[in-house]
Amino acid sequence: MKKKIALISGITGQDGFLLAKFLIEKNYIVHGIKRRSSSLHSTVRLDTIYQDKFVKNQSLHLHYGDVSDPAFCCRILKDIKPDELYHLAAQSHVAISFELPHYTASVNSLGTLNLLEAIRINSLEKKTRFYNAGSSEMYGSLKGSSQNEKTPFCPQSPYATSKLFSYWITKNYRESYKIFASNGILFNHESYSRGETFVTRKITMFVAKYNKLKKGTLYLGNLSSKRDWGFAGDYVQGMWKIIQHPKADDFVLATGKSYSVRDFLREAFKCINIEIVFKGKGSKEIGFDLKTKKIIVKSIAHYYRPNEVTNLIGDYSKAKKLLKWKPKTKFKALVKMMVSSDIKGYLQQN
Ligand code: NAP
Ligand code: GDD
Repeated sequence: MKKKIALISGITGQDGFLLAKFLIEKNYIVHGIKRRSSSLHSTVRLDTIYQDKFVKNQSLHLHYGDVSDPAFCCRILKDIKPDELYHLAAQSHVAISFELPHYTASVNSLGTLNLLEAIRINSLEKKTRFYNAGSSEMYGSLKGSSQNEKTPFCPQSPYATSKLFSYWITKNYRESYKIFASNGILFNHESYSRGETFVTRKITMFVAKYNKLKKGTLYLGNLSSKRDWGFAGDYVQGMWKIIQHPKADDFVLATGKSYSVRDFLREAFKCINIEIVFKGKGSKEIGFDLKTKKIIVKSIAHYYRPNEVTNLIGDYSKAKKLLKWKPKTKFKALVKMMVSSDIKGYLQQN
């Protein structure tokens, strides 16, 4: 049988890597867009699945490009003509979007438009199914008990606002040009491959180092902020299911449970047998080792955002019913998986 062809924008990121791995295991030929970088570091996640480009019959192909370049988007779609296009490329850091709002909007909003236009210009409306990486950040802080596909959006950052354009333009191209274009509205999902400056990975990498050195301070922002944290491996399967569904549509993927940054810290330090307790409030809060009384965590104003989404909880019942998708990995197992992986990584490197 002819192998399906997938194109992934953002293949060098956490989700892009895990999705590429998943699709290759499903016998796809995967093409990915990577940005030119001055070092090889940006493709480090892909090292385990990449073979030299001169090896015959390989499943993974990388192409230099940038989604903010419309000519490139048109050319890559013309050349590859993918069955499925997973658009994951983004300036995905919420705090950084306050520092780089224009750049964030141009990559996240226009990048999506460029790819949709490329499908249309190349007359691939009937051939290419399009997945857009929408975000729970589009909702802003939780008002009721949970957020689903019908909850009104109320973006609280340049990132969330840029993702809303992306969400609506995907819906618009679905309705106007009959493109199979679906939005995933994904709540936070983490893994051993998570970017090092997102809070979960920042914590687990610190815990791994602290486990060995027994010293140092971890500086963080708002410890009271709550997120619905799932495992990225479960979510890339959800992306694939969204694209396999008979009808293009929008789906929330989440766990339905939320935990604070403080909860994440407690659980992560528990993995190295440290009971961490907290004292103080806001940017004066500290976390210390109950046994030794050493201060390990400090909340500082520097890491606070100009506007904070205080809580997010997703209701994934539509995905459960129509896609038969549900998250398999629980919070504690996720934290343990990330800490164990970082401990192993730290010990190998030091
Ligand atoms: P990530 O690790 O930050 O990866 C982002 C990817 O986009 C990287 O491959 C990055 O390339 C690429 N990229 C950035 N700007 C680009 C450009 N102009 N042209 C081409 N590629 C570009 O993000 P992630 O966690 O995997 O998330 C994937 C997508 O899902 C993002 O759109 C994110 O906003 C969205 N999302 C994520 C979550 C989550 O919790 N992880 C939840 C909801 C939505 P470099 O490696 O070169 O930087
Ligand atoms: N990054 C970071 N660094 N966040 C911190 C810190 C810190 O030092 N201290 C506290 N936090 C808080 C943030 O204020 C936020 O409330 C929470 O930890 C999670 O922050 P991030 O891990 O940066 O993720 P995010 O929720 O802002 O955004 C992620 O999830 C979105 C989906 O809801 C990203 O992956 C987005 O791309 C994604 O759309």
